[in-house]
Amino acid sequence: MQIDVFTLFPEAFDWFVSQRHVANALALGHELHRVNYRDHTPLSGRQVDDTPFGGGAGMVLRVDVVEAALRARYDTDPVLLPSQRRVIALDPGGRLLDDALVDELAAQPALTLLSGRYEGFDERIVEHFATDRVSIGRYVLAGGELAAMVVCDAVLRKQPGALGDERSAREESFSAALEGGPEYPHYTRPADHRGWRVPEVLLSGHHARIAEWRLAQSRARAAGAKAPDTLAAPARAPRAPTSRT
Ligand code: ADE
Repeated sequence: MQIDVFTLFPEAFDWFVSQRHVANALALGHELHRVNYRDHTPLSGRQVDDTPFGGGAGMVLRVDVVEAALRARYDTDPVLLPSQRRVIALDPGGRLLDDALVDELAAQPALTLLSGRYEGFDERIVEHFATDRVSIGRYVLAGGELAAMVVCDAVLRKQPGALGDERSAREESFSAALEGGPEYPHYTRPADHRGWRVPEVLLSGHHARIAEWRLAQSRARAAGAKAPDTLAAPARAPRAPTSRT
């Protein structure tokens, strides 16, 4: 798939693109391009935003600037883009990103992500150029870059071959294999640390029982409960402070 991220801070993605699963996805032929709105602004002084009509705090990303950046990238009037690809405006008030939406986006051949800054976008950008508004949670970040990275991360790790072991994606939280529930608990060596023992079934080598146990754990977590054998040992009373006089 091809992902284009429009941003004022393309360098913010440097660390992200070096992550293993992202690098794997890119090596497999997927593409992640960054477009700096400022490189295409028709305004002087590389201006990209302006004060809101009607007053109020903050700055708003300008529609003419976003239009120029989209035109430069796609060589078409951006009002035509929504019929050609998903154009997503990252917006705290948008549709909440969940696994179903990630699956939907991961199946697209091309995505355009528009990061906003300051007070966000001139509404006409979203109305005329975007197909979706997507939120990564009901809180406000200083800009859309982190949200864009979250979308890219979630979508790219779903691409076959991006994760080292395909089982990671098949049997993870919210997958069909776990009936849409959260993932079961994992343990590794040592099998006993301070008396905190790994559930015996996981050491049994009995694959069917392990699968059954894991599904039961996932179901219990989905129900908001903890399955009995992951319950922490009852807390001991704190040791009385030793007084030194
Ligand atoms: N931009 C600022 N906050 C955001 C959020 N929570 N989700 C998506 N985009 C954002």
